[in-house]
Amino acid sequence: MAAKKKPRTPEPTRRDFLYIATGAMGAVGAGAVVWPLVNQMSPDASTRALASIEVDVSSIEPGQAITVKWRGKPVFIRNRTSQEVEEANSVEIVELKDPLARNANAAEEPATDVNRSAGEGKENWIVMVGSCTHLGCVPVGLAGDFGGWFCPCHGSHYDTAGRIRKGPAPENLAIPPFEFVSDSTIKIG
Ligand code: FES
Repeated sequence: MAAKKKPRTPEPTRRDFLYIATGAMGAVGAGAVVWPLVNQMSPDASTRALASIEVDVSSIEPGQAITVKWRGKPVFIRNRTSQEVEEANSVEIVELKDPLARNANAAEEPATDVNRSAGEGKENWIVMVGSCTHLGCVPVGLAGDFGGWFCPCHGSHYDTAGRIRKGPAPENLAIPPFEFVSDSTIKIG
């Protein structure tokens, strides 16, 4: 008797995969997790990704954010609205719990908004390691008393520049080494 043929399950195509990634972002919106970005790379590139990753940010609208994975850590990338940038700019350094920029791309500068953003002309972009400086929980975006990030573990509130404003966290969220390598691509690491 001939053996029954197993039904074939088609392999997901690249198009299906991109659809899944896009669908996930669309559903979650701001704060969406985009771990699959790393998986889209070739094996060679993924090995290099341990040191650095490149992220296409062209589809992140003002007011939206994504989270990518870099060296095993979540990294927040947020395209801030002009109102969010203005709010961050209106804060005096003396009002801040941590007056330092905590930006790996510059020496210890004051924690002004521009010193924490992607710099002049790209002030709307902020890139930060998504690890609360209290005990390392992952803060939630677009939340908290200052409209930035909120860490629910012990109640730390960060503003729209990722600066600690209230709660037990001692420092502003850290900014990793990064740069724009084109108008719409950020290289982290
Ligand atoms: S780990 Fe974030 S407030 Fe404690």
